[in-house]
Amino acid sequence: MSFLAASLSRVKPSATLAVAQKARELTEAGRDVIGLGAGEPDFDTPDNIKDAAVEAIRRGETKYPPVAGIAPLRKAIAEKFRRENGLDYKPEQVIVGTGGKQILYNAFVATLNPGDEVIIPAPYWVSYPEMVVLNGGEPRFVDCPIETGFKLTPEALEAAIGDRTKWLIFNAPSNPTGAAYSAEELRALGEVLVRHPRVWILTDDMYEHLLYTDEPFATLAQAEPRLYERTLTMNGVSKAYAMTGWRIGYAAGPDQLIKAMVMIQGQQTSGACTIAQWASVEALNGPQDFIPMSRKVFQERRDLVVSMLNQANGIKCPSPEGAFYVYPSCAGTIGKKAPSGRRIETDEDFVTELLDAEGVAVVHGSAFGLGPNFRVSYATSTDLLEEACSRIQRFCNSLS
Ligand SMILES: Cc1ncc(COP(=O)(O)O)c(C=O)c1O
Repeated sequence: MSFLAASLSRVKPSATLAVAQKARELTEAGRDVIGLGAGEPDFDTPDNIKDAAVEAIRRGETKYPPVAGIAPLRKAIAEKFRRENGLDYKPEQVIVGTGGKQILYNAFVATLNPGDEVIIPAPYWVSYPEMVVLNGGEPRFVDCPIETGFKLTPEALEAAIGDRTKWLIFNAPSNPTGAAYSAEELRALGEVLVRHPRVWILTDDMYEHLLYTDEPFATLAQAEPRLYERTLTMNGVSKAYAMTGWRIGYAAGPDQLIKAMVMIQGQQTSGACTIAQWASVEALNGPQDFIPMSRKVFQERRDLVVSMLNQANGIKCPSPEGAFYVYPSCAGTIGKKAPSGRRIETDEDFVTELLDAEGVAVVHGSAFGLGPNFRVSYATSTDLLEEACSRIQRFCNSLS
């Protein structure tokens, strides 16, 4: 019998991290590789935020934090939810964790019993199903194809809800597709959820500020207030303020759930890094000009990438409304022969051959639960994006 836990055999390693690792190895071996696999802004953290962290160190904010988060940050988060999302949470209803990732994990540890189902619209962020499985739950995938703009429809949601449904995970703007929802679309989904009072909703609003529509961002509990009592609203500073390495995420929700998550966190990490928490207070309370600046740059890059990819043979690239990813279909390349002589049968073959032939690293769609597609992260410099898209065009033109 293996020394390792049986649950490990049900979990897959992260495909996005695997692509990043492969790109790194090729670069080290001397290949000219452009990595479009990473899910993090290429900008540096704004100086006012860095300064707040340095000041916190100098003040001696270097002791264990309160498990749920330092009081000024919980207050800043409650104010952020009120200011930006019209959601009324007391600071005690807020938990700060080591990244949004840990918030999700805490929520599943705190609530899942064996056999509980979690509805995950596909394509999905790679970590959702693995976290559910690791905590004894069962992912219930709902296909959201390119024809619906990769969006969950009320009909598909209704059909997926069953006796064992515990949670719906709802992520918009989405990683990996960039799909975003209008308040009206959210209300239509909300109507379905109102009819199923046993289902809880976990909204992952990590990409809230990277939205390129005229209509402002809305989150589910805001669009349909009747869901407030059973919604965990999750967010973080990683993407909004280019703070991926600081590892701060947060959520707010009903008292009982937050208390359970805090209890778990107390036995796990004792809370998130104090210095990163002080930096996050400044991120949320300080000047917000970084957000529109980065949004404008990302929108320009999105337009560039969508236009160039649509000029590649066999590629169809919708223009997403948010996040920093595009999720083009490579169906038109399936069955063709790559320069290596190998035939492209799947989207995984497509990305492998592309990396081999042109040194461009992207992630295959099947890793996100829906293909044949691939995910391109445009969180990299415009020059590199132009070069990478030219290479993808050349690669697609070389297929026979
Ligand atoms: C959809 C989504 N949710 C959550 C996270 C986790 O973010 P973090 O742990 O950096 O706060 C990510 C990061 O890639 C993401 O894409």
